Amino acid sequence: MNDLNTITKESRQEWEKGISSMFQEIAESYEKINTFISMGMDQAWRRAQLKRLEQYMQDAPVLDIGCGPGSLSALASKELPKTKFLSTDITWGFLEIAANSGNADTLAQVSASDLPFKANSFSAVVSAFVLRNLPDLKRFYRECHRTLKKDGIICMLDLTTPPFKPISFFHSLYMKMALPLGAKIYGSKTEAYEYLDRSIKNCYTPQEMNSILEECGFKILHTDRMCMGTVTIYTAQVIK
Ligand SMILES: C[S@@+](CC[C@H](N)C(=O)[O-])C[C@H]1O[C@@H](n2cnc3c(N)ncnc32)[C@H](O)[C@@H]1O
Repeated sequence: MNDLNTITKESRQEWEKGISSMFQEIAESYEKINTFISMGMDQAWRRAQLKRLEQYMQDAPVLDIGCGPGSLSALASKELPKTKFLSTDITWGFLEIAANSGNADTLAQVSASDLPFKANSFSAVVSAFVLRNLPDLKRFYRECHRTLKKDGIICMLDLTTPPFKPISFFHSLYMKMALPLGAKIYGSKTEAYEYLDRSIKNCYTPQEMNSILEECGFKILHTDRMCMGTVTIYTAQVIK
């Protein structure tokens, strides 16, 4: 993971350009491979995330960062039908898929580092499987802080490394085998999935993530570790 205190504008933009072109290449097969690797549990994890979101909803839209093919907003339209989602992504190919599949009603191309929205616009900012890809988490969380209404929340789901060493060993082994296999079966680029494997290994621990959130002006509400710690949902409330 990056040293968050030494990131320049140029390195941030270069990182985002690289990540976006990588996601552009795998956009078509992403959803199938994600379901394959997670053994179909990805939807259950998103459902658990939406349950947390429901607990703190206010009367304002939800901003979905890195919406990909729109899996979260599609599920939300069934689970939380009254909640309005604004689905955003940096990668054009994903926005096209989200639009054409009818998974998302309102879409915009947005970088998590520069949210083009007024202060106090959203009741929540959500993301699923995105945090590991961002070049500057503090910048992103500060943008969330600015655009959230008073008492608004962030509710973020991501893959994490299991805390118990033997489990983390087998998890890492599984990822090493399942990622290239999934890519091969669905005819996608294996390089992108090698990156995914590395990004999980380098991700912050939930303790580290929570202290970054606190530093950026959030109060931690819940840290839900699921599936033996391979997946974590971070829920935190903005302090304004
Ligand atoms: C692993 S996919 C997750 C997609 C979706 N949220 C899901 O639930 O499956 C990560 C997504 O984050 C997007 N992304 C990566 N970096 C981003 C950034 N800096 N700003 C906005 N979106 C970004 C990618 O384009 C991709 O769609």
